[in-house]
Amino acid sequence: MRLQIAIDGPAASGKTTVARCLADRLNLLYLDTGAMYRALAYVALNTRTDLDNQSALVRLIDQHAIGVELDRAAPLGFRIRADGEELTPEALQSNAVTSVVSTIAAQPVVREAMVREQRRIAQAGPVVMAGRDIGTVVLPDAPHKIFLTASVQARVQRRRRQMETMGVDVNAHELAAEIEERDRLDESRAASPLRPARDAVVIDSSAMSAAAVVDRICAIVDPAA
Ligand code: DC
Repeated sequence: MRLQIAIDGPAASGKTTVARCLADRLNLLYLDTGAMYRALAYVALNTRTDLDNQSALVRLIDQHAIGVELDRAAPLGFRIRADGEELTPEALQSNAVTSVVSTIAAQPVVREAMVREQRRIAQAGPVVMAGRDIGTVVLPDAPHKIFLTASVQARVQRRRRQMETMGVDVNAHELAAEIEERDRLDESRAASPLRPARDAVVIDSSAMSAAAVVDRICAIVDPAA
């Protein structure tokens, strides 16, 4: 059976940190699928594309050669390019991108294109994939599914630290409002709403370090280790 580890969860639940550490620990490739939606949002904003026009959004993928390549040596653990340029973590995480990405990710035609590409990547070899719908839609047969959650308060603290290391000043109240709004949009959308797969192990990481979560997942993936 192919080693696929799906890690889903709400915004700022620690999925990307945990997924990346886990991939390093298990010597696997890793992809944060949220970055793919963010790359499309980034290009849509730069090209002033109508964010409700699904077919125009999907056309941007080809028109601007938006592509992803898994590479453990890359700063993010993978590379996302558009128009031949690698998109930086700062571009992908900017407030402008964050404020529109859930709207773009709610569109079924956009999701179909993303899911197709994510499945193609998973076909190529073992992978740790993080997102919202990996266990439910992208890789429903993945042998290991984790749903990582945490209180809004814990998520605000984590996102704040992450943004500050990137030199972005943030207000905790605004951050909490933004996280709650993205939870609402991601959970209530009709296409692949955020929810745990029936066979996912739910981990509440509010009071756990990333290392402790990784240990726990390693024990789930290989109980004999
Ligand atoms: O994890 P993130 O904050 O980078 O995700 C950005 C947005 O993309 C988020 O609002 C939900 C969406 N997303 C999704 O719908 N499906 C995924 N597999 C990954 C992200």
